[in-house]
Amino acid sequence: MAPDRKARVSVVTGGALGIGGAISRRLAASGDLVILNDIDPEAAERTAAEITASGGQAVTVIGDVVEDSTIARITEAAREAGRIDVLVNNVGDFRPAAKSFQDSTSDQWQRLYELNLLHVFKLTHALLPTMIEQGYGSIVNNSTVEAFRGIPQHPVYAAFNAGVSAFTRSLAVATGRHGVRVNAIAPDLANTEQTPVEWMRRGYDEGLEHTWVPLARFGEPDDYAAVVAFLASEDARFITGHTIPVDGGTLAASGWFVRADDQGWTNRPHRA
Ligand SMILES: NC(=O)c1ccc[n+]([C@@H]2O[C@H](COP(=O)([O-])OP(=O)(O)OC[C@H]3O[C@@H](n4cnc5c(N)ncnc54)[C@H](O)[C@@H]3O)[C@@H](O)[C@H]2O)c1
Repeated sequence: MAPDRKARVSVVTGGALGIGGAISRRLAASGDLVILNDIDPEAAERTAAEITASGGQAVTVIGDVVEDSTIARITEAAREAGRIDVLVNNVGDFRPAAKSFQDSTSDQWQRLYELNLLHVFKLTHALLPTMIEQGYGSIVNNSTVEAFRGIPQHPVYAAFNAGVSAFTRSLAVATGRHGVRVNAIAPDLANTEQTPVEWMRRGYDEGLEHTWVPLARFGEPDDYAAVVAFLASEDARFITGHTIPVDGGTLAASGWFVRADDQGWTNRPHRA
């Protein structure tokens, strides 16, 4: 049974900055008690204070979500809150990155595994039994378009995020009968602390966004939070097992770019 909206308890990992910060604020604005986990204590307290100042509710759990002790403290915070309705496994990072796969090390692969996939297993494993017991829950994972499209410099990051999407699909099939839905988003080109617009442009001419993003702009954290809020909500009650691209159309274009001289589209290297 769907919970009383006022009583919804939502966990957001990496919930202080970037996409996670927007998700925390968005869920709190619609009445959820947000259990906000983040590794950055100052940023977490700042976001929690903003939520409280706007009349919302947030409690922080500071720590690396990869660590078992952090998982235990998030689980304890959910127990104290009395239920757990929404779990947003948002943490993920393409760093530590190497110049190429040949240059990467097994230590880097291990950290990419921990940051992109292992914590998703750990926290889901910790909170799922409560959701099943309640007969209600919505899990939303944060994958990436690179789970579906090649990214030459980050094959290991792409592999673990493809794992997030595969985990999403299979777990959804297993938990649907218990009232637990599992979905994911696949962002591209988000203007966040991890990938600020200036860094993505790297001096690329302004005004040419339409040549690489069909919707002709980069994404802002709220663009992704809106889709997470939808997937977590009762409006998405018949959707499970899917990864929804939130990418301004880049996957649909998939290698096709508007020519810099605006004379149509090309899938070949193109100079103005
Ligand atoms: N930025 C993009 O364009 C983009 C594209 C595709 C996918 N994604 C995915 O979206 C998610 C969020 O990305 P973002 O750009 O908002 O990231 P970000 O680095 O801007 O913000 C991440 C947040 O998580 C926190 N955090 C980082 N490591 C943590 C850890 N180990 N434990 C707890 N908290 C931790 C950070 O302090 C920060 O508040 C990630 O899973 C990322 O892979 C982002």
